[in-house]
Amino acid sequence: MAAKLPIAVLISGTGRTLKNLIDQVEAGKLDVDIRLVVSSSERAKGLQFAEQNNIPIAIVKSSEFQTTQDFSDAVFDACRAAKVKYVAMCGYLKLLAIPDDFTNRVLNIHPSLIPSFCGENYYGRRVHDAALRRGVKISGATVHFVDNEYDHGPIILQKTVPVLDNDTVDSLSDRVLKDAEFVAYPEALQLLAENRLEFVEERDSFRVRVVPKDSPKGSLADDDF
Ligand code: GRF
Repeated sequence: MAAKLPIAVLISGTGRTLKNLIDQVEAGKLDVDIRLVVSSSERAKGLQFAEQNNIPIAIVKSSEFQTTQDFSDAVFDACRAAKVKYVAMCGYLKLLAIPDDFTNRVLNIHPSLIPSFCGENYYGRRVHDAALRRGVKISGATVHFVDNEYDHGPIILQKTVPVLDNDTVDSLSDRVLKDAEFVAYPEALQLLAENRLEFVEERDSFRVRVVPKDSPKGSLADDDF
């Protein structure tokens, strides 16, 4: 059996994204080892899923730190102590300063097709409300590496869903979550676990490429987990 990629999961809320990853691991479809759940609040409902599955928990609250840098240091110190290779933001609402040793090792999922409806004020229901107001006919989810700007780092993969004429914010967010997010995040993490992602530099930008199965490993390959 392939080695499991050690990850930490960062949550702020209900933890549906975390629960989906746990379910995919249990179903044998995702080769990651969730070694730590970091929550930005002790009241996050998603903590129940960590408790039920005996995953260690760290509560790191931004209000207890003077600066974003200090807060971020505390989050990543916990991740280093857990010896994780990657960090997956799962409904995590805080901006972090990504330290050098975690560059391109922090992932996020955003409930729209970036670069639409993303950035500092676009989170949760606001994203879907903006999509409906603009009248787009497709929406979806984007998994990307995190840099020091909201929803900005290199895109790993995207999944689309249709926007229907009678959609509400609730119906659209539900479809994006279940049909796009719940599929895209495990797929992206499994690509990492299989060493199938690489960066290519083209037209003055770095982009992420998925390496076909059975090809030489991608440049993000990391065997020592
Ligand atoms: C959803 O809005 C999703 O689009 C975003 O976080 C929310 C899910 O939070 N990525 P959670 O996983 O239920 O806490």
